[in-house]
Amino acid sequence: MISSKYKHILISGFLLWLFSVVGTTLVALTQQETVARIADNEKRVLLRNLYELLPADRLDNDIAQDSIELSASPLLGTDDPQLAYRARKEQQPVAIIFNAIAPDGYSGNIHLLIGVYEDGSLAGVRAVKHAETPGLGDAIETRKSDWILGFDGKSLDNPVADAWKVKRDGGEFDQITGATITPRAIVNAVRKTLEYYQIHRERLFL
Ligand SMILES: Cc1cc2nc3c(=O)[nH]c(=O)nc-3n(C[C@H](O)[C@H](O)[C@H](O)COP(=O)(O)O)c2cc1C
Repeated sequence: MISSKYKHILISGFLLWLFSVVGTTLVALTQQETVARIADNEKRVLLRNLYELLPADRLDNDIAQDSIELSASPLLGTDDPQLAYRARKEQQPVAIIFNAIAPDGYSGNIHLLIGVYEDGSLAGVRAVKHAETPGLGDAIETRKSDWILGFDGKSLDNPVADAWKVKRDGGEFDQITGATITPRAIVNAVRKTLEYYQIHRERLFL
């Protein structure tokens, strides 16, 4: 015969076990859902940025599906393979959008989407992830300033090689008042991405 004290201990033990199982399961489920939601959000942001870089009438394919994996490259600032996205119209190459990284921002890596038309001119640049300072370096975001739109239409020979610098360094690109480090990093990264395109352009649309 089980004493009532022993019964009490058994019931408490069972309840503790039950709560821990239910609790752990809930945490695991929530975490799974959060990871899925983050991935979904990131995909939505990526799509919005991709389509923002190119006028809708310039392409007729699904750029997010027409991707190519590019090996890590110092010219793209990448340590891991990254996807690039191709825009086409009537199957003809129109543009490619690179994932590139400016590693030397004020607060480390600045992740960029860099759209390059088939002729080597820039469709545009967007900063998609960074830790630059609010009120200073974050003027690279389009919702804070137009600074990053200054790359539109530029190419490796416009401006000439020597002018691919911020004005403070004798180049042609505006800096951001009180925050030259961030734009300097991006100007470098964009120029290097254009060099990457020039070297690899033949195989990028295959
Ligand atoms: C707290 C703090 C945060 C800063 N954040 C940035 C930044 O995000 N980007 C940047 O370029 N400079 C930033 N700076 C300024 C740099 O230290 C540096 O002074 C500046 O980039 C040089 O630009 P200037 O020659 O136009 O003054 C920051 C400075 C401080 C003190």
